[in-house]
Amino acid sequence: MEAFVRNFLRSSLIWLAVAAALGVSMALWPADHLAYRPAHAHAALLGFVSMFIFGVAYHVIPRFTGRPLESRSLARIHLWLANVGLALMVGGWLMRPTWYRTGDVALKVGAVVSAVALGCFIYNMWRTLSEPAAAKRARQTVLSAERPAGKGRPLPLVEEPPEG
Ligand code: HEM
Ligand code: HEM
Repeated sequence: MEAFVRNFLRSSLIWLAVAAALGVSMALWPADHLAYRPAHAHAALLGFVSMFIFGVAYHVIPRFTGRPLESRSLARIHLWLANVGLALMVGGWLMRPTWYRTGDVALKVGAVVSAVALGCFIYNMWRTLSEPAAAKRARQTVLSAERPAGKGRPLPLVEEPPEG
């Protein structure tokens, strides 16, 4: 298992613990702590749920597609941006009731960093799911060679050389 996969899964578990702590504090002291709801919701959904999905996806999608991950270094960058971004967002939401200006700046920076992190994931997965043009052409050529002429034979993507 790649280190970034393991670290995404570990981050997910840490965020689950953060979410649970915030959830319990809201349940116990709603009058003071219900303002932490967005911090709790994002620690749970963007932290626990999403980071678990990222870790599993980075491990499983290259195996499903039979293609290596487009960029392992981008996955490592994603790991850092996702955690720093979410820490700033959660910290910002926790600070806002007491230190509004600092908390608001942390939230805004964290939101942008988290969005960039999601962009890294979207790009990397999209490219890993896409079949390279050369492989697609090779598959089309094999398919058209296997089928008899005129029987559902697909149009070749490139001009076939004359026979003989
Ligand atoms: C020990 C575990 C947990 C506790 C004690 C807990 C507790 C709470 C409490 C007290 C609220 C505020 C409800 C209100 O507005 O009155 C809340 C909201 C929320 N929780 Fe949890 N929670 C826990 C785990 C989770 C997990 C694992 C998830 C998701 C994977 C989650 C997702 C949410 C979301 C999305 C909201 C906001 C719902 C809304 O927008 O109204 N929670 N939780
Ligand atoms: C770049 C990533 C994200 C950013 C910057 C972001 C930002 C926000 C903001 C600013 C709010 C309003 C909070 C408020 O009431 O003051 C919000 C609410 C919410 N977001 Fe996100 N979000 C992100 C990703 C996600 C994802 C991936 C999920 C679910 C998988 C999610 C689920 C929710 C939910 C359930 C609420 C309502 C929470 C509540 O009841 O307090 N968000 N989000």
